[in-house]
Formats: sequence, structure tokens, C-alpha cells
Amino acid sequence: MEDLKQLVEAVHRELGSKLEEGKVADYIPQLAKVPLKKFGIAVATVEGDLVTVGDAEEAFSIQSISKLFTLTMALGRWGERLWARVDREPSGSRFNSIVQLEHEHGKPRNPFINAGAIAVTDAVLSGSQPKEAIGSILRFMRFLAADDDITIDPRVARSEQATGHRNFALAHFMRSFDVIEHPPAEVLGVYFHQCAIAMSCAQLARSGLFLAAEGRNPLTGHRVVSAARARRLNSMMMMCGHYDGAGDFAFRVGLPGKSGVGGGILAIVPGKAAVAVWSPGLDANGNSHVGTAALELLARRAGWSVF
Ligand code: DON
Repeated sequence: MEDLKQLVEAVHRELGSKLEEGKVADYIPQLAKVPLKKFGIAVATVEGDLVTVGDAEEAFSIQSISKLFTLTMALGRWGERLWARVDREPSGSRFNSIVQLEHEHGKPRNPFINAGAIAVTDAVLSGSQPKEAIGSILRFMRFLAADDDITIDPRVARSEQATGHRNFALAHFMRSFDVIEHPPAEVLGVYFHQCAIAMSCAQLARSGLFLAAEGRNPLTGHRVVSAARARRLNSMMMMCGHYDGAGDFAFRVGLPGKSGVGGGILAIVPGKAAVAVWSPGLDANGNSHVGTAALELLARRAGWSVF
């Protein structure tokens, strides 16, 4: 535990000078306001320890990291039938790309690109009203983090609602192929709110811990998913969690991970820990620049790579 703390502190210190190198997401105006100098790291271990450094207790917009949790919920509800709506192959395209949809009959390549995540949210919405679905996603996050102090930032949701033309285009296109069942405005209302969930690195690391512990949250004892499903969720993160940068992330870090344009990344060290980093400056693929570098250093020094 002391060694881990020292390791995390050293990585945080060493990368502090690189925070200005990335570029904050500006296509969602509310995210463009977040200062580049924010930087937090949290490691939750399967033994129940939590190490936090820097801004690890400050809530930020989890954005696409939410896609991991809605996928977990949709698989819980639909089981293997979910794969009829969304594929599970790396896309090799940007997170918000529309090009593949036309060739592939409106079926998104994977649940983590925006099109796939919108299809997954449509599956979560099934049988309920948008408000109920938003409530159940938020409750799921509180349950996983074992912390009720998790909220949705309505300014971020509104900001994206007002500027999310590309997501509307994706949803309407998929609706034309009957890949999504609900009106695009309803599905996106839920999707924008799940992306606007605000959580700290500490909360995110705790929420991901079930994926490091064969589907069971070691902090609460609750079984979240089966061991087989935890393995599959990890494989999905490894292949698709960083979009067009998934290969580079696997090469440099060697861990399953899911990024968000808020600058957060949740990475899983199977059998050992869940690690959440936050630094809002992004690289060209829309993934946290310093966050990736921090995970690369941590994984190398701790010997965490799964390869
Ligand atoms: O739909 C969007 O564009 C955002 N709400 C989420 C995108 C995102 O986080 C992509 N990840 N790096």
C-alpha cells in the first residue's frame, strides 16, 4: 500500500509538466471551460485499499466512460440478444464517425463508438420512460461506487443537447434501419444525461472494481456480473475502449480501458485493481493525453500489463 502510494505520487509528479500539451474537448461548449491543469489518479485494489493523488476527489464529466456501465446494464437485461443490434469489432474510425453505418445496415461496429452506445442506450430505455432510464443509470452508478453522492451535471447535458447534431444524425440513421426502437430525441435525451454524470477518479475506480474481481465488487460483496461477462467486458474495453487509438493504448498500457472526452480513463488490472485517471487535455483521438501517459508509466512500473 505504501509502495503503491509512492508509485502513484511519482507518476503524478513526473507528468505535471505535460498537462498543457493536450487540448480540451471544445465541441461540447460546457466541457471547454474545464481547466487543463486538473490531474487526478485513483487506484482501488481488490484488497480494499484506495490510493488517491492530485484532483482524484473532484467530480468531472465521465462522458463515454458511461458507455461501459450502460453496456453492463443492457447485457443484464438483454443477454446475448444485445449482439443482434450492435457488433463487437474495433472500428478503426473516430468515436463519432458515421461512415460504417451505411455499409453495415445501420448496425454499429461496437458498443463504445457513439453509434453503438446510442443503440445500447436504446436497449436500456426499452420498457421505460426516459426519466426512469436516466434514474436507473444513476442508481446503478451509485450502487457500483457504493456512494450516493453522484449526480448528473444538467449544464453539460443541455450543452450537448444543443450542439449534438452528429449524434442526432447517427440516431436518425440507425432509426431508419430499425436498429433503434425509440424516437431519436428520447434515446439521445437519456444518452446525453448518462454522459453528463459527474464522478471523481476515486468513485470511478471503485465502480470499476467488479471488473478486476471476476464480476464481484470486493468492497460490498455484491455480484454485479458473472466472471465470464466480466472477462468479455474487459475484452471489449481492450479492443474498442479507445476507438481509433485502441491499438496504441493496448501497445503502450496493455490494459482494458475506457476513455471519455471529459479527460477521464478507467483502466482495469484483472485480479488486482481498477485505476481511474483524469486530465482534460485530449490527444488527436479524443483520449486523455496525460491520462494515457500516466497509465503507461503506472502499468510499466507496477508490471500490470496483461501481456
Ligand atoms: O457523444 C459524445 O460525443 C459525448 N457525449 C461522448 C463522447 C466521448 O466521450 C468520446 N470519448 N472519448
